[in-house]
Amino acid sequence: MNLETLLVATGAVTGTGVLAWWRYLDTTVIRSATTAEQITAAAPPALRPAAFILADPGQSNLMFEALDLGHRDRGFPHIVRWDYTPHGIDVEVQMLGGQKLGDWTSEDTCDQLATYFAVPTVTAIGTDPSHVRLQLRVFDTLTDSIPTDAVGSGAEQEAAPEQQVTPESVGVDLEAVPVGVAEDGSPWLLRVLGSQILVAGATGSGKGSVLHSIIGGLGPAIRAGLVDVWMCDPKGGAEFGSGADRLFVRFGVDTGSILGMLSEAVELMDERLVRMRRSGTRKLYPSVDEPLMLVVIDEAAALSSYASREEQNEFRRLSGLLLSKGRAAAVVVVAALQDPSKETMPNRQLFSVRIGLRLDEPTQTAMVHGQGARDRGARCDQISELTPGVGYVGEDGTTGFKRVRAFWVSDDAVDAIVDAFSPAQPDTAPVVDYSGFDPDFIPGADDNPPGSGSGVAA
Ligand SMILES: Nc1ncnc2c1ncn2[C@@H]1O[C@H](COP(=O)(O)OP(=O)(O)OP(=O)(O)O)[C@@H](O)[C@H]1O
Ligand SMILES: [Mg+2]
Repeated sequence: MNLETLLVATGAVTGTGVLAWWRYLDTTVIRSATTAEQITAAAPPALRPAAFILADPGQSNLMFEALDLGHRDRGFPHIVRWDYTPHGIDVEVQMLGGQKLGDWTSEDTCDQLATYFAVPTVTAIGTDPSHVRLQLRVFDTLTDSIPTDAVGSGAEQEAAPEQQVTPESVGVDLEAVPVGVAEDGSPWLLRVLGSQILVAGATGSGKGSVLHSIIGGLGPAIRAGLVDVWMCDPKGGAEFGSGADRLFVRFGVDTGSILGMLSEAVELMDERLVRMRRSGTRKLYPSVDEPLMLVVIDEAAALSSYASREEQNEFRRLSGLLLSKGRAAAVVVVAALQDPSKETMPNRQLFSVRIGLRLDEPTQTAMVHGQGARDRGARCDQISELTPGVGYVGEDGTTGFKRVRAFWVSDDAVDAIVDAFSPAQPDTAPVVDYSGFDPDFIPGADDNPPGSGSGVAA
């Protein structure tokens, strides 16, 4: 049963109503229900079979035995706790001695658990050693698109005149840029400074909205000169062209000019690293003098697969240098691509943040998030075509994935972002008043123009 069906059944509303419903159920209904029957009766219809099994240890053990996860002779896994969540139910389970995480996270086991609980999907992720969290998914909290509020929330943020311009003074945390929402309703905050970011997704999966959301979230810092955006738009400039010469410090649409831009970025990065070495700086914190360089590449395949052999090699070399050395020097690459294969994105392993939107094949999830990612909950191939911008985010140093939806950035919102956050352009207007300038006036010959009152009579 999907979200809408259940909400109609329970008389609730969609969107934020899901979260309100869940909080009500969590705090009010469950606390007053004590017996397994009461708990089951109080559960929303779509979760009643699951509540019936979870509220009664006898039923849980029957399920474990049926799925070969426990046995009356060898013992049963222990359900430590279970809680309603915005997406359904989370169950914390202590595994049975001798079991391994893969026994629970395999696609087969998760499918069997989903059938037994009578819910559409179950994902299992390792939490503490010997513990696993089962996530029973009945509601999708990310079905409604969320329009960006980048301009509304950031337009007024400007450092006071006497204040030094820093990311804090303009209200931007470069390590937590709001770019969407997570499925528990919390903001999706993206670490930009210190990361290299890969965005992979089939055509129409919402890669553009992720890129625009990042730019919108960084807006006040771009306007203040703390972030320079280098935009590579090999699809011809249709999508990002409105920011050319305004929001972006560099903008390239063809392979030659983009490779030239990347080469210049590498040169500036290397100069910056030399300056840092000389001054003993190990990690650069962006300032107006040394801004964060955000190199955005929309559809990297144009450079890695559809260019000439020499150009492909050059792209591989330059992107490899930026990705491997950029971190300390506040140089961040954000690369979007449709096909996440190694051929399309060489140096794929150098991205520390990976965003997998809707992908066509299960194998592509592993290309983005690594082997076993599907078993750990990242199911990019199961994301609906109806929810562009939805994806799974994985970061170096964490094993789990966050399910998120990027803000929806309409064409009008893109224009508003460009208008609100483009840094002031140098004023090239004449400083002298030339309004009385007469282009036909010849000094000497025309010193006494007719009507001046001092002409000589013939
Ligand atoms: N986060 C979002 N929320 C709601 N709608 C979205 C979102 N992202 C994208 N869309 C819608 O989906 C359509 C495709 O999005 P987008 O152009 O960003 O996809 P893409 O992955 O960049 O596609 P392509 O590979 O063709 O460039 C857009 O018309 C947009 O209206
Ligand atoms: Mg696109």
